[in-house]
Amino acid sequence: MKAVVATDFGGPDVLAVWDVPRPEPLPTEVLVRVEATSVNPVDYKTRAGRGMSKVIGEPPFVVGWDVAGVVEAVGRGVTRFVPGDEVYGMPWFPRQAAAYADYVTAPSRQFARKPESLSFAEAGAMPLVALTAWQALVETARIEAGTRVLIHAAAGGVGHLAVQVAKSRGAYVIGTASAAKHDFLADLGVDEAIDYKNVDFATAVADVDVVLDLVGTEDYGMRSLTVLRDGGLLIEVPSGVPEAVAAAGPEQGKRVTPGYPGRAGRGRARGPGAAGVRRRAASARRADLPARAGGRGPRAQRSRARHRQDRAASVAAGLAA
Ligand SMILES: NC(=O)c1ccc[n+]([C@@H]2O[C@H](COP(=O)([O-])OP(=O)(O)OC[C@H]3O[C@@H](n4cnc5c(N)ncnc54)[C@H](OP(=O)(O)O)[C@@H]3O)[C@@H](O)[C@H]2O)c1
Repeated sequence: MKAVVATDFGGPDVLAVWDVPRPEPLPTEVLVRVEATSVNPVDYKTRAGRGMSKVIGEPPFVVGWDVAGVVEAVGRGVTRFVPGDEVYGMPWFPRQAAAYADYVTAPSRQFARKPESLSFAEAGAMPLVALTAWQALVETARIEAGTRVLIHAAAGGVGHLAVQVAKSRGAYVIGTASAAKHDFLADLGVDEAIDYKNVDFATAVADVDVVLDLVGTEDYGMRSLTVLRDGGLLIEVPSGVPEAVAAAGPEQGKRVTPGYPGRAGRGRARGPGAAGVRRRAASARRADLPARAGGRGPRAQRSRARHRQDRAASVAAGLAA
């Protein structure tokens, strides 16, 4: 099968399309033919030697976690799916899922049935951003009707899902985004939009119950604390909680927590497919390799930007399914 392999740590130029062994489903696993994946920040951060690279290890490896596709085969003991079922999921995170490839194997319970209302491209753009938003706002913050929520980077991949999750729960939603995105935020139901390029949000909003910070700098964290009510909750998603923010929160009577999963551990666990890529790397003769992908692999290249509007239109159906 083909896979878009990160041959080294670096920019898009380290990506190449390789022929690698197709993984086989073990008992309880399914083999999924990948119809669509997506490009998330964690993918390029990992490719560059940050992100989940401490979990995955040294290149060559295959990034990508979002998967939408068709069950090709099932391992012994799988009762949830049969070949031909359309599924989506975010398998193995933070281990290597190797979704920039023709096929992925993972435990069957790491996939859900793809709603018919979603195309493969829409479903493939959904899991990582939607699960991040859901875990933060529903499972961690337990937002409910009337909760005042401030979402930084509200028009981004995670943010625009978070807005919809929050609105579906009846929250009052304030979002930061550049002015060009304010119409988009209004369409999603945001109650107040703040142009972060021209307005200091810390002067524009107060008495917030929950801040979902998808920017994640120390400066954003410190200023976010000031807009929280006493006992309010700041969720720091990108890289965990900056030290100064962790110290300042309790001093101000505010709660601070990382968004799942925070910083990657230092383990070296490898997901399925890794061994095959490594074997392929060991025996690779560069002359055998197809043209370098240059970051434009066949499926990996379904950019989130391209599908953002589609995702927005269909997210409600996806979450409801
Ligand atoms: N730890 C986890 O589990 C986890 C999971 C998912 C994502 N993340 C991280 O969360 C971050 C966001 O991910 P994403 O997928 O939503 O990224 P994205 O789709 O690239 O969105 C980034 C957004 O950030 C906005 N932005 C940039 N600077 C800003 C600022 N100073 N104030 C407010 N908004 C600003 C941009 O808004 P404009 O276009 O309006 O300028 C853009 O829409 C990334 O760092 C990602 O790695 C972490």
